[in-house]
Amino acid sequence: MPRFYLTTPIYYANDAPHVGTAYTTVNADALARWHRLIGDETKFLTGTDEHGQKVADAAAKNGQSPQEWTDLKSQQFRDAWAALDIQYDDFIRTTEPRHYESVQKFLTAIYDNGYIYKDTYKGLYCVSCEDYYTIETSVEGKCPIHGRDLIEMEEENWFFRLSAFEEQLKEHYAAHPGFVTPETKRNEALSFINGGLRDISITRTSISWGVPVPWDDAHVFYVWYDALINYLTAIGYGRDDDEVAKWWPCSHHLIGKEIIRFHCVWWPAMCMAAGIGPVSHVQVHGWLLLGGQKLSKTMASEGAVRLTDIAPIELTNEFGVDPIRYYLLRETALGNDGDFSHEGILARYNTDLANNLGNLVARVTTVVATKCDGVATAPRGDSPLRAPAELAIEESAKAWNGFAPQSALEATWGLIGATNAYLEQLAPWKMEPGAELNAVMGDALEAIRLVAILSTPAMPKVCEEIWRRIGLSGAPSDEVFSVSAIWGQYRSGATIQKSEPLFPRMKSDA
Ligand code: MSP
Repeated sequence: MPRFYLTTPIYYANDAPHVGTAYTTVNADALARWHRLIGDETKFLTGTDEHGQKVADAAAKNGQSPQEWTDLKSQQFRDAWAALDIQYDDFIRTTEPRHYESVQKFLTAIYDNGYIYKDTYKGLYCVSCEDYYTIETSVEGKCPIHGRDLIEMEEENWFFRLSAFEEQLKEHYAAHPGFVTPETKRNEALSFINGGLRDISITRTSISWGVPVPWDDAHVFYVWYDALINYLTAIGYGRDDDEVAKWWPCSHHLIGKEIIRFHCVWWPAMCMAAGIGPVSHVQVHGWLLLGGQKLSKTMASEGAVRLTDIAPIELTNEFGVDPIRYYLLRETALGNDGDFSHEGILARYNTDLANNLGNLVARVTTVVATKCDGVATAPRGDSPLRAPAELAIEESAKAWNGFAPQSALEATWGLIGATNAYLEQLAPWKMEPGAELNAVMGDALEAIRLVAILSTPAMPKVCEEIWRRIGLSGAPSDEVFSVSAIWGQYRSGATIQKSEPLFPRMKSDA
């Protein structure tokens, strides 16, 4: 059975979940659900990044210990993901003992392999990025991402010999063209490598909130250096070699574009240094923008609405869980930046969901309920809907497999459009009851069944409801995809009733 291991970045536990982090998590969840649907053995990991100066500062500011603070914040992420129907298989916290164990073993392997040495670090640091800068990489002494003042740092630190991996990384990229997607982001990662790699300071002595360095009590690991290892902790690195061997060869990271250097340069080099192969694939996505800016707390101007202020729960309360999931998946292709707006959600809701999908289900169930005695008929083998259905299945599967939920949904909506056009052309609501009407309805019910299967990774609850409305039991995700996603599987005889709209239209002042 094929396997699929997918991760999100682990989110900093200094802040609350917001639309940006929800974007990554919903995309990852839909991709994981797709792989479960097609029968892959799937593991989906998310979690919280709980060390570092930023988290320690936030805890102190709120009068709590870092542990109390991260307990609270980590729970907020779990709650937000529950509200968005995120079905993760594991949620990792970097303060867990299992993580300490894996980090210490992984870094000791790098140390033993001779890639860690002691030196003095002198330079600039941005607490928001938890990243080092030089005068050249800063913007007039300020952080290029957050615009905040950089801190001058001078410490005796342990360093990772990243520079030793330049050639090996170039070779890895050349041998694995699909290592980082999309191609523009792969080129960005490669240009970091081609620009020359400097060794990185990987420990700190000025803070104590971190994983202790096993060979030197005075140091804790620099937060990024422990965080990246979470992807291996969760599959048992240093504790269960069989699990690592099982999952690492089919591992995929979904990340935002601002953390390419960490995931596509540092992390593969760290794995090479520890004697384990790099992750198999990194899928990079763009930023959701509100008014053209990514808008982190530190950057936004006083009083402005910030993306990071919008809690996912506010949106799901207003529009429903699956419509928000649909919007996040459908509006912006993974890899591009996209605009986030209430108007955009409303437009998708009213057009794609209420007018296209909702209306299709309502029309078909109403005609069957009122003109066919509420009894469904099987589709025809030579139905005019068969070709558009087969195209939607093929294109949508290809897109889901290729980390492109937006295109997958676009292909599925192609089938919805073709079915609505077919119904408008034949106007079954005006047809006489009889065999011809029954056959047309059988074709439309089959198209709806296939739409429910193809959309279930995006809108699991709605698709379950559609399943029920077309007289089927269970859920589309219970099906064996390779058997059920074939034209002609819908059986005659199901009972169908008229029901409430799936997506009542919403007004723009809603
Ligand atoms: N803790 C690190 C990641 C460590 S992974 C080993 C971190 N955390 S974060 O809380 O800042 O989350 C960053 C991730 O959140 C981004 O990579 C991206 O996936 C997501 N997003 C945050 N803001 C976003 C947008 N405005 N738009 C889209 N995604 C955004 O970095």
